[in-house]
Amino acid sequence: MSKDRGVTRRQLIVGAAPVVAAAPFAGMALAGGRTQEARHLAGHRPAAGHAAMIGEEAPAPGGPNDLDSLTYPPEALPHQPGRVREYSLLAEDKEIEVAKGVVYPAWTYNGTVPGPVIRATEDDLLRVAFANGSSHPHTIHFHGIHPANMDGVFEIVNPGDTFTYEFPARPYGMHLYHCHATPLKKHIHKGLYGAFIIDPPEPRPPAKELVMVMNAFDTDGDGENNFYAVNGPAFYYARYPIKVSRSQTVRIYIANLTEFDLINSFHLHGDFFRYYPTGSTDSFEYTDTIMLCQGQRGIIEIDFANTGRFMFHAHQSEFTELGWMGFFEVEE
Ligand code: CU
Ligand code: CU
Repeated sequence: MSKDRGVTRRQLIVGAAPVVAAAPFAGMALAGGRTQEARHLAGHRPAAGHAAMIGEEAPAPGGPNDLDSLTYPPEALPHQPGRVREYSLLAEDKEIEVAKGVVYPAWTYNGTVPGPVIRATEDDLLRVAFANGSSHPHTIHFHGIHPANMDGVFEIVNPGDTFTYEFPARPYGMHLYHCHATPLKKHIHKGLYGAFIIDPPEPRPPAKELVMVMNAFDTDGDGENNFYAVNGPAFYYARYPIKVSRSQTVRIYIANLTEFDLINSFHLHGDFFRYYPTGSTDSFEYTDTIMLCQGQRGIIEIDFANTGRFMFHAHQSEFTELGWMGFFEVEE
């Protein structure tokens, strides 16, 4: 271990092909206490790189349905101005497995990183009861339109305290929420963020709906991320590909909450998609790659032309190799 001390992520990444397989496990070794397991796993890594890492080959923690509540959002409800939509969020410190064998002391909303998907229809009255059960002061800051005293910046909620956020949901689109206590960088990279969907008054066409919140974890505390993913653990959707059907539009509500790195990206193999930035207008770009800074988000709509297995991943290859990759299994 001592020879690893002080080695930064970038130094680990710099270099040739073997790093493709070695990088995630170098991160695990640095995370401490799991060296044996890391070595064991490293010995079983395919040498060919991520192309081979599907299913059992992919080193993701958890079971096949563990991320269902973060992947599949609650259903959209019809427009009904004034209807109350209630959610409860509890901030709690919790250790979570962010890559196989790597446990991270996260700060969470409701025990997961990202936190739960919050969904409302435009003109609903959104009411979010927040309780702080953690050891640090926190808030919830929503993106969107709301009064100044609901902004989650000045109303710091101390451990043991509660606060109720209440405002009409608008404008429609894909948004996000996150803690806005200081130091902001820390409260975000520890895990306090999630997706916030507001549906338009005129419902979107039917689709298979997914949520992807881009995240990363600095497991060795050096201010650089060791693992990347969407919706939590590294390599999860490589181990458990997302099943979709060719006859149905796939709609992805995507947001970037990655800390430390300036941008993140989404790239789809084998097809193009419509990308609606922020999801708040009808205008879209037709492409296979988008990039997002932290806080940027939008809606992706894919009509797959072909069946089969198609990869999606960050187009920063470094992020891909550290866990931000997955597959769609497109069936007829
Ligand atoms: Cu916080
Ligand atoms: Cu923000």
